[in-house]
Amino acid sequence: MLLSFTLVIFIGLLSLLLVSVKITEQNVSRLIDRDMVQTKKTVDLYLKQYFLTRNMVLSAGSFHTEADGLVKELGSAVGSTVSIYDSKGKSLSDLNGPIPDTSDFSGALQGGISYVVSQSGADSTISLSSPVLANGAVIGVVRVVKDNAALHDFTNRFLFAVKWIAAAIFALVFITAVFLSSRLTGPIGRLSGSLKDFSNGRYEPLPFNRRTDEIGDLARAFHRMAEKIEEQMDVIKRERDTLLKTQKMSKTFFDNVTHELKTPLTIISGYAQTMRENGFHDKPFFDKGIKYIMDESRRLNDKVVQILEMSTAASRQSDYRYEQVNLPALVREVCTDMTVKARKYKIDIRCETGADFNYRGDREKLREMLINVVDNAVKYGGVDSTVTVSLKKTDTGKVTIFVSDQGKGIAEEHIEHVFEPFYRVSGESQERERGSAGLGLALVKAIAEKHGGSVKLASTRSAGTQVIIEMGEG
Ligand SMILES: Nc1ncnc2c1ncn2[C@@H]1O[C@H](COP(=O)(O)OP(=O)(O)OP(=O)(O)O)[C@@H](O)[C@H]1O
Ligand SMILES: [Mg+2]
Repeated sequence: MLLSFTLVIFIGLLSLLLVSVKITEQNVSRLIDRDMVQTKKTVDLYLKQYFLTRNMVLSAGSFHTEADGLVKELGSAVGSTVSIYDSKGKSLSDLNGPIPDTSDFSGALQGGISYVVSQSGADSTISLSSPVLANGAVIGVVRVVKDNAALHDFTNRFLFAVKWIAAAIFALVFITAVFLSSRLTGPIGRLSGSLKDFSNGRYEPLPFNRRTDEIGDLARAFHRMAEKIEEQMDVIKRERDTLLKTQKMSKTFFDNVTHELKTPLTIISGYAQTMRENGFHDKPFFDKGIKYIMDESRRLNDKVVQILEMSTAASRQSDYRYEQVNLPALVREVCTDMTVKARKYKIDIRCETGADFNYRGDREKLREMLINVVDNAVKYGGVDSTVTVSLKKTDTGKVTIFVSDQGKGIAEEHIEHVFEPFYRVSGESQERERGSAGLGLALVKAIAEKHGGSVKLASTRSAGTQVIIEMGEG
């Protein structure tokens, strides 16, 4: 780009230079022309006057005899050197210079009028030769040699100045073009480099942000665009992570559900098959089989109902009816309700709630959540122990519920799974509580999250478990 721009400027200036040289030459030659015409007129006039004032007739003879006088008279009239020659080109006066060999002189001998500009170093002369006619014949030649040095010098100086001005303009334009293009192309090059980096996942803010010109605008627009794209990328990444998590969770859920439904189905189909093979002959086995089939069918039915409940109760926002709930009172109510079951295991429930306050939430769901956690603490807390339920509200209004037991605790590897639907830690505690479905903590988590909160488990092997429910703002 810079090269073509420089070339255009160069051609433009060169043309300007050539045109100005041409015009100057034409002007100079017009000036000389006019001067020569004037000189010729003066020569003719003075020649005529010379002979008239002396009562003489111009002829080859008188021209010859008056040659010296004419040289002087005409010389002072035109202010230049004048020489007189006869029609053959012979010098007629001692005051003449040497015989000229220029074309003007030979032309004048033939009857023509012309002038020649001669150049020799800094000297410049114009020689004008004019034939002198008498009775229609050339009787001699008057030659005027004028000094042209001043005009020549002026023209030379003018052209010299024009050339240098053109060269200076060209240099100035070139330097400005280089400077401007470095200010333009440099940043644009870096912008495109940055764009390439950005498309490869790397981005560093451009240093032209503070510039007030178009490059600055471009850099700022680019920066804003990059920020927007990065924001969008973050959103996309977060959504992708959530989607992957949800996919993983639903797979776990289906695995667990399948596992849950498979056990009763295996028992049912096993007994049904054996009964068909045995027929009615083995009455005790038949009765036992019928009992198992009925029991397992009921359990299967219960599980299906639980699954349906699980999928509707915990998930749909529209099922939640939010109102102002006296949370400490609700916690105390749950503790009281669970006392009967706790007594079965000789467990003492301690309830620490503090002063009453209202919390915005779904009363029934909150109750369900608390019952499930306290139920777990009672079920897995161990005989002859204490379950502590405490409710705390900080100055900033943050509500936290702690439910602690003194049971065997949950092993590290199970903690992250106990919130999955149908997940149970196998062991004696489970055998003791055969009614457990493994849905309680999944519900607790869902309800807490619907209230903008979260659930954590802190468990020490053989020293008990603490469930921490951090409630949302309500
Ligand atoms: N306080 C606790 N101490 C020890 N283990 C616990 C405790 N709470 C939960 N668990 C373990 O986590 C598993 C999942 O608990 P969750 O409440 O989801 O199901 P569940 O109590 O087995 O059945 P459900 O609550 O549906 O009747 C339990 O089976 C139990 O093994
Ligand atoms: Mg439970």
